[in-house]
Amino acid sequence: MFLNTKTKILVVDDEKYICNLIKDTLGTEAYDLSVYSDPSLALKHIDCKPVDLVLTDLIMGSHSGVEILDAVLKHNHDAIVILMTAHPTVETVISVLKNGAYDFLVKPFKMELLKATIERGLEHQSIRRENLELKGQVEFLKTTSFSSSIDNNIEKYLINLVKSCKKEIGAVAAGVIISDPSKAELNRKVYESDEEQYIGEVLDDSTLETFTYTKSPQPAISIREDAAGESKRNRIKISQPIFVGRTLTGVINILAFRKFDRVLSGEINILGILSNFAASSIANWRMYNDLQKSYLNAIKGLAKAIEARDAHTAGHTDRVSKLAEIVARHLSWEPEQVRNLVMGCMLHDIGKIGIPDAVLNKTSKLSKAEIERMEKHTELGLQIIEGIDLFKPAIPYIASHHERFDGKGYPSGLSGEGIPIEGRLLAVVDTFDAILSDRPYRDGAELKVAISEIAKNTGSQFDPLMVKAFFEVIRSGDLDLKKLYDCSEDLDSIPELQTTEKAPA
Ligand SMILES: [Fe+2]
Ligand SMILES: [Fe+2]
Repeated sequence: MFLNTKTKILVVDDEKYICNLIKDTLGTEAYDLSVYSDPSLALKHIDCKPVDLVLTDLIMGSHSGVEILDAVLKHNHDAIVILMTAHPTVETVISVLKNGAYDFLVKPFKMELLKATIERGLEHQSIRRENLELKGQVEFLKTTSFSSSIDNNIEKYLINLVKSCKKEIGAVAAGVIISDPSKAELNRKVYESDEEQYIGEVLDDSTLETFTYTKSPQPAISIREDAAGESKRNRIKISQPIFVGRTLTGVINILAFRKFDRVLSGEINILGILSNFAASSIANWRMYNDLQKSYLNAIKGLAKAIEARDAHTAGHTDRVSKLAEIVARHLSWEPEQVRNLVMGCMLHDIGKIGIPDAVLNKTSKLSKAEIERMEKHTELGLQIIEGIDLFKPAIPYIASHHERFDGKGYPSGLSGEGIPIEGRLLAVVDTFDAILSDRPYRDGAELKVAISEIAKNTGSQFDPLMVKAFFEVIRSGDLDLKKLYDCSEDLDSIPELQTTEKAPA
């Protein structure tokens, strides 16, 4: 590995006195100098050792400077190659520069000019390498935009992170492991790999454990020779830890194959930058999650507060959430939709907070005005969550769980598929639970009554597809109604559950 070692300069000229002259001039500088008057030995050197800068004669018997140039650039893509010749023609100069040479020196030249050309070349190289770091930062700034997006999707963010790392290092595989022992649910593993066989290596947990003990922010680099067909190559593995503050939060693993056992300091810097960006984004993401949980707990508290005001509806939001979640999974909703559904169900009756006790707990029949007051709970609910981005996904649940399929519901009188699917699903399970629950003015009904009531209102109050899915989950046994409602009714004797077609296995 050569991180901060001396600049490697190779000199090739079949005229020995020129070799000696250059050796005397550059020998006093802080370079790692290799000088060859035999071009074939220089080619062997190039084949097994990395170089930063090459000075080569253009014409050397059976060998040429172009041959040296091609061999150097094959394995050292950012090497500086300076050609030396006594008789340059315009054609030769153009063709050699096109092939990637940096400059020409016309013999005889003064040693000051040689030194100045080398310095200029190395500066050019250093700018290119720094530019690589900047590119890495720009790439990653693009990916960090995900952390501020509303869905706060950490998976997408991590995929972009590993893609950036893989691209910047020219690796065959990159993986990231995010871990927090105190928050097991926040563990993540994401990779990007050219071949399946490398995945295990970049997602190896032991790389994370290494930093648990060292606490070092420096990357761990391991390099070993690896036989690939006839030629040898180096298998380079870099593990870059991610620290949030002083807490080890994850590790980025990179696997690359290279001709030389060389990792540039610029590449290590890029990984350091990427891991710092990742650390702050992960910290933000965790804060966002904690905040979401706090909000949700506060709202759950409010929902419970409504239930506490009316002992007859105790557990309503929990049961409705449970029922709706099972039906949504049966309908193959996306995981994110299901997460939103749980939030929506929890909040669907939040507006009841604004309904007076006298109406909420009235034991006799509600008057027309009281019914109207009660129906306001959907709009009140929307007002409560208004302006809280986090709760936006709950809007369709709050707004449309009392709409009817035939358009006779409230608050908007939407009908059919004009009602958001969230509202159509919630309407079924919400009503089902309401029928089964004790109310101030009546006792809860039996399961067979609730099921028959739902079946009877299919197509008028409820979306037939939602009812079908609901009955399917009951029949499949995925939903244990007897346990949920603490009853011992025989479901097989309920006609509506028998007449519909069999649920898929
Ligand atoms: Fe409601
Ligand atoms: Fe409800």
